[in-house]
Amino acid sequence: MEFKSKIKTIEWIKPDNVSRMVDQLVIPYEYKMVDIKTCEQMYDAIKTMIVRGAPAIGIAGAHGLALAALEVSSEVETKEEFLQKLKEKAEYLKSSRPTAVNLMWAVDKQFELVKNSEKTIDEMVQLLIDHAIELENDDIEINKKIGDYGAELVPKKGATILTHCNAGALATVGYGTALGVVRSAFAKDNTIQVFADETRPRQQGSRITTFELVMDNIPVTLITDGMSGYFMNKGMIDMVVVGADRIAANGDTANKIGTYNLAIVANYHKVPFYIAAPLSTIDISIKTGKEIPIEERSHEEVTHINGKRICAEGVKVINPGFDVTPSELIKGIITEKGVLYPPYEDSIKKAFEQV
Ligand code: MRU
Repeated sequence: MEFKSKIKTIEWIKPDNVSRMVDQLVIPYEYKMVDIKTCEQMYDAIKTMIVRGAPAIGIAGAHGLALAALEVSSEVETKEEFLQKLKEKAEYLKSSRPTAVNLMWAVDKQFELVKNSEKTIDEMVQLLIDHAIELENDDIEINKKIGDYGAELVPKKGATILTHCNAGALATVGYGTALGVVRSAFAKDNTIQVFADETRPRQQGSRITTFELVMDNIPVTLITDGMSGYFMNKGMIDMVVVGADRIAANGDTANKIGTYNLAIVANYHKVPFYIAAPLSTIDISIKTGKEIPIEERSHEEVTHINGKRICAEGVKVINPGFDVTPSELIKGIITEKGVLYPPYEDSIKKAFEQV
């Protein structure tokens, strides 16, 4: 049985040529779509996290460059000017968020497609739109493959799977990476359940992960970030699966802040800790996690909840959005090409040779 998720996070709408996406800033209070019509609006949507999650912002970047091409095509006379302006827009889009490499991957892939093209400007615009739609459709297929490979790793019937942040349908075009594993596992055994970390400071776990699992009728229990050790110690967690924002060539993995703590606690309790991510999240140009740029986010995310101050005024704050889990804490990386195991230098290299 295939699991059907109700969610499509981002979609190119023809013939209007707009990018329609779920507004993740209002979840769980509302579920509404927003139309993004320009490259600048796309930059803002990514930066303010209307759209978030590594694969979803990759597709947003691809849509963004197609929107840029539509705009630029009406402003220029020559192909050289078109490509020059498009390159500037590509750099602008890529600067919206620094850690998730899918954004750079998708925008670069789009630009590469036209950079040496013999086509006319109008043909290039169409090519960028068609390619953005292709990447969008591929994302769901890739997640289903990740889900099916990951479901094989669930250690027992009725297992409890812990996840952090949101690596679900709403962090991708649909289905999800870590929650793709959950969806595929649930299709095989509807007695499995999820424990979701709240994921401070932006609470993607409580706001988004629980929202989409409840929407799809998959049993989920919300816990706060510091509770995982307690439940592992009681033998209540069978497996941890999280997503990723960037994976280095040696398997070191950047994901939402708090993932590293979770990996240590899981390893201490001998609970298998897996990453679920597409190959587009693996950045083979960097050797280790030390080279991954970590986004420093607004201090207000820590000092306030829903606009209300929750700490003393004047307190010092540091707010890195991501941390890096060293590869030795990762039991396997679940990709669309299968599960990669240590030594990751070799398994990642082999997976890329198959592409
Ligand atoms: O800051 P966010 O919400 O974009 O961070 C998202 C995460 O860290 C996800 O877990 C990660 O992108 C994996 S998404 C499938």
